[in-house]
Amino acid sequence: MPVDPSAERLVLRRPDDWHVHLRDGDTLTMVARHTAWPFARAIIMPNLTPPVTTVDAARAYRDRILAAVPAQAGFTPLMTAYLTDEIDPEEIARGHAEGVFTACKLYPAGATTNSAAGVTDIRRLDAVLARMQEIGMPLLVHGEVVDADIDIFDREAVFIERVLAPTLARFPALKVVFEHITTREAVDFVRAADERVAATITAHHLELNRNDLLVGGIRPHNYCLPVAKREQHRIALREAATSGNPKFFLGTDTAPHAIADKESACGCAGIFSAPVALESYAKVFEEEGALEQLEAFASENGPRFYGLPLNEGSVTLERCAWTVPEIVEAGGLRIRPFHAGQSLGWRVLRAD
Ligand code: DOR
Ligand code: ZN
Repeated sequence: MPVDPSAERLVLRRPDDWHVHLRDGDTLTMVARHTAWPFARAIIMPNLTPPVTTVDAARAYRDRILAAVPAQAGFTPLMTAYLTDEIDPEEIARGHAEGVFTACKLYPAGATTNSAAGVTDIRRLDAVLARMQEIGMPLLVHGEVVDADIDIFDREAVFIERVLAPTLARFPALKVVFEHITTREAVDFVRAADERVAATITAHHLELNRNDLLVGGIRPHNYCLPVAKREQHRIALREAATSGNPKFFLGTDTAPHAIADKESACGCAGIFSAPVALESYAKVFEEEGALEQLEAFASENGPRFYGLPLNEGSVTLERCAWTVPEIVEAGGLRIRPFHAGQSLGWRVLRAD
């Protein structure tokens, strides 16, 4: 779709968010509405306490999400199963057949928030990956090797070499989404891979590099996992997202934590981007002179990869300077959103 660079409004096919953390309880009630405002569907991460490992747990969580958003939002949560060393392939296949599980999520044990029950060695997943390959169910990977001898900035590149490439070779038909990629190595790998491999890219990794985390004082609200990398990697991500290549699509990884848990001696990883998600991507695409590519990235590439229909509705962004609130309250929790206190130039006006 050609876009007039001076246009005051931008109308896109209604987008989806292919990676969100909605949490649970009172927090869920507030954060789910931010996602359901512009997005028609979202891939829901299963890293609750306890994690979502069964069909019953996913069905119940889906019901709680649907109860949290107004029916007129027309929002569809797409559920995922949290893979563990002991996961039963038949439970996964049944959840998929019953329309409960859209995909499975691999957290390497110890990689991030609530990943203690994650996978210690991908080889322990052979039976479940074989079953997923057979039924065409995508594997979503948190792509980091977290061995103590690996520098945190190298975790993603090492994952490609030690885990992702060998797994794709061993399961030649398995569909894989390399989630929230942060490096040039990941961009190059996904570009070169065959079409069963895709990647999500967050708004914050398109905007932040590691200086934004560490220069002039430590900035816990810019801390997420995988951690932001050097500038050359951010540039590679921006090129990939705005290139029109159908392998790259929108996944915010919106991950709310209470301010007190972020501003701490051991601060939690996660950036709450849902209240500004589409606006942040629009900012980046405009800066890159690529607003005409935003619709493919936000609304087309994801559903095509997942084999789902494109949404029928639309979302309208309006050019308008507004200041992002410093704090969003969520069921008694105080959360600092991405871009808190900063001015943005686009705002979602309506979603139909
Ligand atoms: O920054 C992150 N926060 N990365 C993740 O992988 C998990 C997430 C969370 O759940 O807080
Ligand atoms: Zn995540």
